[in-house]
Amino acid sequence: MPASLKIPVLPSVKAFREWRQSLDNRSIGFVPTMGALHDGHMKLVDRSLSENSLTVVSIFVNPAQFAPHEDLSSYPRTFDGDMRRIHEAVGRDSIDSSETPKCAVFLPTVEDMYPSGIVQNIEDQKGTFVQVKGYEEQMEGKSRPKFFRGVATIVTKLFSVVQPTRAYFGQKDIQQGLLLRRMVRDLLISHPLPENLIIVPTQREKEDFLALSSRNAYLTSIERPFAPTLYQALTAGRQVWEEISGSGSREGVVAAAREVIKRRQEEAIQAGVEMRFDYVEVNDPDTFDVVNWRRKERPEGQPVIISGALWIGRTRLIDNLLSGDTKEIFNQL
Ligand code: PAJ
Repeated sequence: MPASLKIPVLPSVKAFREWRQSLDNRSIGFVPTMGALHDGHMKLVDRSLSENSLTVVSIFVNPAQFAPHEDLSSYPRTFDGDMRRIHEAVGRDSIDSSETPKCAVFLPTVEDMYPSGIVQNIEDQKGTFVQVKGYEEQMEGKSRPKFFRGVATIVTKLFSVVQPTRAYFGQKDIQQGLLLRRMVRDLLISHPLPENLIIVPTQREKEDFLALSSRNAYLTSIERPFAPTLYQALTAGRQVWEEISGSGSREGVVAAAREVIKRRQEEAIQAGVEMRFDYVEVNDPDTFDVVNWRRKERPEGQPVIISGALWIGRTRLIDNLLSGDTKEIFNQL
């Protein structure tokens, strides 16, 4: 096996720091994950491999971003499969036979990442937490209060250990990526710099455009055909937003999306599948405020996020589409 295919697994903060110190000054691309890797994660890994001499993938199921009633204990943990996928990606990319690895996996323990301990109940938590105030209450934050506090906290810690040149996040969780870019700016974090926090477009299933997600594994075979409903609803909503007259409004988008969901809900009932609407919303990618203007009332190309969440049985799916000028979101300025 070429040396570049050997992938060190660093099982603690201490091991990671020692290993990192032994490296020369190479650019590090960082892909934080909670494991159960799929092609969506791998798109971030591929991008990082192509833009950096070394890629670090972290796998850590972060307790602080799960509410007490959520799926922390049942969240899929598939380490062997994850390592296989990472090996494949490095193999695909590997063109040199250098002695130094192109990729490493950081696999810290809960005790490592939370030296002051961590309990699920927020009121009982002790220690240091990071909040991005004013940006974590909208969209996903409305349905999952304190979720972004958990994400911002763990990503700050991961950045502090990994010290990456660039970090990669998926559009699939658009609010997460944009909020973290703001956090990096606000906290004057230099590894990565805000412009090097890169958002990568959502990877979808080829046949029905379902956004890839670790949670798709929860869907039963009867539920699976209904999973693309959210994408279909958001697409109908985006069509309304992009109407040529420019009269598209938040209300129109939400109504069109709900209509699609309602129609599919009737079919779902017949199939014995429970489909529950959570939200569809239109938000400003900069402030996350709900958009209360018609498209024609703003400069051509002003971007918006059309996002939503839908329950299929016991699985909560999220997705989003963008409309307008997305260059800034995708670091193409
Ligand atoms: P996780 O859900 O494992 O996702 C890791 C990264 O993969 C995130 O940046 C996410 O947006 C991206 N991703 C997931 N599905 C994708 C898809 N279909 N297309 C493109 N990218 C996709 O997000 C988290 O973990 C956690 O919150 C984390 C950032 C690791 C902090 O704990």
